[in-house]
Amino acid sequence: MSGTQRLDWVSRPATALHGDVIVPGDKSVSHRSMMLSAIAEGTSHIRGFLEGEDTRATAAVLAQLGVRIEAPSSGERIVHGVGLHGLRASDKPLDCGNAGTGMRLLAGLLAGQAFDCTLVGDESLSKRPMRRVTEPLAKMGALIDTQDGLPPLQVRGGRKLHGIRYELPVASAQVKSALLLAGLYAEGSTEVIEPHPTRDYTERMLQAFGWPIEFSPGHAKLEGGHRLLATNVVVPADFSSAAFFLVAASILLGSVLRLPAVGLNPRRTGLLEALRLMGADIRIENQGESGGEAVGDLVVRHAPLHGIELPETLVPDMIDEFPALFVAAAVAKGRTVVRGAAELRVKESDRIATMAAGLRALGVRIEETPDGAIIDGGVIDGGTVDSHGDHRIAMSFAVAGLVASDAVTIRDCANVATSFPGFLGLAGSCGFALS
Ligand code: S3P
Repeated sequence: MSGTQRLDWVSRPATALHGDVIVPGDKSVSHRSMMLSAIAEGTSHIRGFLEGEDTRATAAVLAQLGVRIEAPSSGERIVHGVGLHGLRASDKPLDCGNAGTGMRLLAGLLAGQAFDCTLVGDESLSKRPMRRVTEPLAKMGALIDTQDGLPPLQVRGGRKLHGIRYELPVASAQVKSALLLAGLYAEGSTEVIEPHPTRDYTERMLQAFGWPIEFSPGHAKLEGGHRLLATNVVVPADFSSAAFFLVAASILLGSVLRLPAVGLNPRRTGLLEALRLMGADIRIENQGESGGEAVGDLVVRHAPLHGIELPETLVPDMIDEFPALFVAAAVAKGRTVVRGAAELRVKESDRIATMAAGLRALGVRIEETPDGAIIDGGVIDGGTVDSHGDHRIAMSFAVAGLVASDAVTIRDCANVATSFPGFLGLAGSCGFALS
């Protein structure tokens, strides 16, 4: 946890948001860029690396395993790759902090090493399910002990891995990526089939580092026995961080914000579609490509929103954006229904329960269902909510405070530093009344 962020925030009603908001680098891409650079041959240069606690924890783990990483400036990393078999044992546990992505991907990466290691995490990560990766990895020959399915993970080294064909029971880019990373060390081919396509950053980045891989939406296949060659990575701005500003400007009268060069990988932009279905005015300008990823400026203007039945097919493409969507739904005219999103219950917090409790404390009518919620839009009152140490919940209630009838106090906001360390300043600079 960061000592630099204040623990509790107060978000007050504001007038309108204006200006350019430059959001930090993508968390998913930053994790992967660090991992692949570490086990590549040669020196990779990463630009736009997220200076968040999650991604720094991944870098620290790799440094602990013998990778030399320089940080010449903020968002810049020079990684001296050690090659596929160059990582070295550490006698201390490897601390992934709050990062599910860090722990699950590293479990795959470390399953094929010659040495044992232990992956640990903070209080929230220590409650998150790990069998979803350890079970398929065991089918590949890995030996990873959990504590009844939870971290710490004890990864036994010296195992001979073999490829498998695995149909994922739930759509999860983390599980897919863990298997593909283990597949680098496996004999034969590793093939992953998803029930719904998820973000494909691991596949695209493996290709950029020179590893032959076949992939299409919902499917990926690679073989062991190749090499990763260092390359340069440009990390786009994180759509999930932009999401809070998209909702904020949509719901606050008179607002216009520009969010430059945001990553627009279609497996991430479900919220854009959802908000547009609700009546939002969000345009994409200056569309282009950066580091092999689609990027564009998002220009969002206030617009009256109405409730929707969220198409279930959008769920995996906006899996991290539900706390923000719930706030939009709370002020939209009419009812919003979310289904097919049970995965929200095993994120940094149970995001259905945490959002429902918080919105209810602010007078919003919301009914929890096992896999979603039914939200009746209306007025948001002032009050006190608990983020349960979940960064995206904290930022979502900061957005709710903008349009509430009185101040919203948000407890336990330090974990915002895991994904968006500059949020408080950036939000203040465009018109949030947040302290
Ligand atoms: C991520 C995948 C998603 C997402 C997480 C980042 C990734 O998790 O919620 O924030 O970088 O692969 P799941 O794989 O559990 O859906």
